[in-house]
Amino acid sequence: MGKGYYISKHLATAAMVLAAIALVTIIALSVVYNREKSKNAAKFSKATTLPVFPTPKTSNEPWDKYRLPDTLSPQYYNVTLWPRLVKNANGMYIFTGISGVMFTCEKKTDLILIHSNKLNLTVFKGHHAKLTGLSGVTAPAIKTTWFQSETQYLVIQLEGKLKPGKDYWLYTEFTGELADDLEGFYRSEYMENGEKKIIAITQMQATYARKAFPCFDEPGMKAVFHITLIHDRGTTALSNSQEIKTENVIIDGMAITRTIFGPTKRMSTYLIAFVVSDFTYIDAKDKKGVLVRIWARKKAIEDRQGDYALNITQPILEFFEKYYNTSYPLSKSDQIALPDFNSGAMENWGLVAYRETALLYDPRTSANGNKQRIVTVVSHELAHMWFGNLVTVKWWNDLWLNEGFASYVEYLGADYAEPTWNMKDQTILYDLQSAFAVDSLTSSHPLSRKEEEVNTPSEISEMFNTISYSKGAAVLKMLSEFLTESVFAKGLSNYLKQFAFGSSVHSDLWEYLQKAVDQTPGIKLPYSVHEIMNRWILQMGFPVVTIDTRTGNVSQKHFLLEPEAVVDRKSEFNYEWFVPIKWMKKGQVQDQLWLLQKSAIHKPMKVSKNEWVLANLHVSGYFRVNYDLGNWERLLSQLESNHQVIPVVNRAQILDDAFNLARASIINITLALRTTKYLLHEREYIPWEAALRNLNYFFQLFDRSEVYGAMQAYLKKQVKPLFEYFGTISSNWTTVPSGHTDQFTQIIALSLACSTGVEGCRELTRSWFKKWMQNPPNNAIHPNLRSTVYCNAIAAGGAEEWNFGWQMFQKATVAAEAVKLRSALACTKVPWLLNRYLEYTMNPEKIRKQDATSTIGYIASNIIGQPLAWDFVRANWDYFFKLYGTGSFIFSGLIRDVTYRFCTPFELSQLKRFQKDNAETGFGSGTQALQQAIEKTTAKIKWLEGNKEPVLQWFLSESA
Ligand SMILES: *[C@@H]1O[C@H](CO)[C@@H](O)[C@H](O)[C@H]1NC(C)=O
Ligand SMILES: *[C@@H]1O[C@H](CO)[C@@H](O)[C@H](O)[C@H]1NC(C)=O
Ligand SMILES: *[C@@H]1O[C@H](CO)[C@@H](O)[C@H](O)[C@H]1NC(C)=O
Ligand SMILES: *[C@@H]1O[C@H](CO)[C@@H](O)[C@H](O)[C@H]1NC(C)=O
Ligand SMILES: [Zn+2]
Repeated sequence: MGKGYYISKHLATAAMVLAAIALVTIIALSVVYNREKSKNAAKFSKATTLPVFPTPKTSNEPWDKYRLPDTLSPQYYNVTLWPRLVKNANGMYIFTGISGVMFTCEKKTDLILIHSNKLNLTVFKGHHAKLTGLSGVTAPAIKTTWFQSETQYLVIQLEGKLKPGKDYWLYTEFTGELADDLEGFYRSEYMENGEKKIIAITQMQATYARKAFPCFDEPGMKAVFHITLIHDRGTTALSNSQEIKTENVIIDGMAITRTIFGPTKRMSTYLIAFVVSDFTYIDAKDKKGVLVRIWARKKAIEDRQGDYALNITQPILEFFEKYYNTSYPLSKSDQIALPDFNSGAMENWGLVAYRETALLYDPRTSANGNKQRIVTVVSHELAHMWFGNLVTVKWWNDLWLNEGFASYVEYLGADYAEPTWNMKDQTILYDLQSAFAVDSLTSSHPLSRKEEEVNTPSEISEMFNTISYSKGAAVLKMLSEFLTESVFAKGLSNYLKQFAFGSSVHSDLWEYLQKAVDQTPGIKLPYSVHEIMNRWILQMGFPVVTIDTRTGNVSQKHFLLEPEAVVDRKSEFNYEWFVPIKWMKKGQVQDQLWLLQKSAIHKPMKVSKNEWVLANLHVSGYFRVNYDLGNWERLLSQLESNHQVIPVVNRAQILDDAFNLARASIINITLALRTTKYLLHEREYIPWEAALRNLNYFFQLFDRSEVYGAMQAYLKKQVKPLFEYFGTISSNWTTVPSGHTDQFTQIIALSLACSTGVEGCRELTRSWFKKWMQNPPNNAIHPNLRSTVYCNAIAAGGAEEWNFGWQMFQKATVAAEAVKLRSALACTKVPWLLNRYLEYTMNPEKIRKQDATSTIGYIASNIIGQPLAWDFVRANWDYFFKLYGTGSFIFSGLIRDVTYRFCTPFELSQLKRFQKDNAETGFGSGTQALQQAIEKTTAKIKWLEGNKEPVLQWFLSESA
């Protein structure tokens, strides 16, 4: 599934809170995905003792097992569905369907298990299905059929046995609810020209195809699908493959349209998609004749909001064809923007679905961060057309490979489409650093899980997390860099050719990469790809590499944010890694070295007093670096005298490493704080963003204590030159800089300056907002700056500003604009406004269901809103659980957001109490997040004990 969908929201909220009253990084929203998805009725294991992955109940009956037996394999399906976009006599929206599947018997059996969930199946002669033999084979009679609701099977027991090698046809007719539950085949509503419109759409990943029609719903069970949709005249039907026939017909006395689609390629059920809507599209043909279409609401297409997506799709497809050395596997590529969609995007093969904010770009109201989000999400989804869709991981335990891979190469595709944006550098912010944040806790888990550890729908849901996406991306990037990109791409392309239209496991990829290494002279690895990678994927966490430049000693240690934390999880590799270290000495790039033991002397790293060593050059490796004090001092003075000698991503990494080493009590916090001193001269986005996130952490810890004032004063001093610089180059804030990342830095300058009270800043933002209030149709605030300006003005204002913002939110016709307002409304300092806003999240007429939890997250990042949001979530936990269902993706984000500021013993006790009180209901996908919150809060309490005073003293001395 796509980016945008599980979000480790603290990245976004980071900037937001830091600016105490400003929302900075809209782009960030893209990248670490609002990880939410959907719900399912599967029984969630009520884990009172909170094992991260509950062990499934064991039973000997095949229908009690979550995995299908290997007795049958599907070949093709014929599916006809008819969604009704008006309520039936019972006040319900429904769809009807008929479906047949041809399967081959692989092993003798008298049992058919096929997934089916929430479907009412028609009964034929007492049974829920009909079975016939093909090619002259006689099928055994059906003995009995029933539903096994826990495992979501239709169970069919036969009188006799199916014969190996023979083909059978299983036929069903059914009715399902077209609910607005964002999963399976569902309905979405939106307003257009004052009229309510209804569309029927799908989200099958991971386990919802079975809710649309009975199917063998596992990714490895690939088949061909012949799909037909019946729909109202005047609406358009879309599916994975090209429509081959659209005809007006009369069925049951109704004048209706039937659209028949060509057979799909062999594919997995979770990638199936259908849409019935009155959307329209723009299109283009690429050089090889592949039809590219962008679909959206009529108004959005008329406003040309689809143009940008259309413009970039072709170059991105072209890039991936070259990169994978494989043609685009299908004849068309549809991409559709949906008003109600729980994930950020979904890579349905040939019919990719997006939230509107991930596909539609309106130059008049969208910020360049919105544009960047579009190019990265589109690139991510299109990368899946090959990796994920053409070759699919056999089971969800290897999800990390699918998502990590797409999360890595999305930057390559985006870089090709927008070559001046420096996209590749941004991976370190949006993948590496966000993965470090969760992977340095003892509650983390290895990238790869054993197949038998992942069974239930909620266990599958839980795989969609920061580790799978971001650590997966960072580790694969490291692999690509030590193999070199050309060897990596060569192995990859052979792997794709070998497994096309089939499925694989991660060791298959290692094998093909190893072959590419063996065929390339000049590449020397200390161990095989398999042996090196096992250490990164089979054990959680990552090392901190310590370099003592006095002796040349290089050593490694498992990096944990809480130094005294006990690691329960055993590792067969003792938490040691094979670490590829690229490095430089005083500006000169040196040969890469491998650290293969706990510690080793590496002579070239012993340097004289006027040289310095910088390791993890270009941040190509997934590890942190620490040095002896002398080297730290020399790096700091290099930063202050001429920071440009150090590559821009390494400047960001020095900051991030130093702060995290200090949080882990490995280095002195004052040393970390000193890495921010050079920011006076820094004009680049990536280091500023990294600094902002780390300082945000400080804000969260200290904005309720006496440290706050001194910290504000220091930051004000540091950001002032940046604010003035952008004031000058933007002719006193009347234009925006031309450079893409400079535009992001400009936003940081404005929001940080306003939040720390740099003279002139708040007056500026307030006056812009006031002008807009006086003349609402004419919003002259530049789209890039809107989030910051809205947030500042609403924070500084009262009910009048809030209500104006709310009105504008309700009127917004561009999704990106609506998001800016929705988050800015959380910036108010007025408690009753915040409480009312929280109530609104329970009313879908006011806040869309897909937006409810992120809105609560925005409110929680506000210092005044946090306790209100926490109370609200605690009071309504049952409600959310019922509303979204236990398998939903949303809970982890929700818990993370409302507990993000916790740092006192009282808050820790509340957290534990919450865990106890709701043990009965459970925490669904939030189980891990809750564990993480407890661990993080515990660590913060300890850390504050020893560090609060030095921090205060340092800020006081530096702000004097
Ligand atoms: C399934 O649909 C295909 C394409 O329309 C058709 O050729 C085939 O006969 C159908 N199979 C069965 C068993 O009805
Ligand atoms: C399925 O059957 C149940 C029980 O009869 C009924 O309550 C439900 O409304 C039916 N669903 C649909 C979509 O017809
Ligand atoms: C799309 O490409 C066309 C042609 O190059 C260009 O004129 C237009 O501005 C682009 N649109 C967007 C939104 O980037
Ligand atoms: C950190 O450094 C400061 C200033 O050099 C010093 O006062 C403090 O004691 C040090 N803290 C620790 C824990 O070593
Ligand atoms: Zn994805």
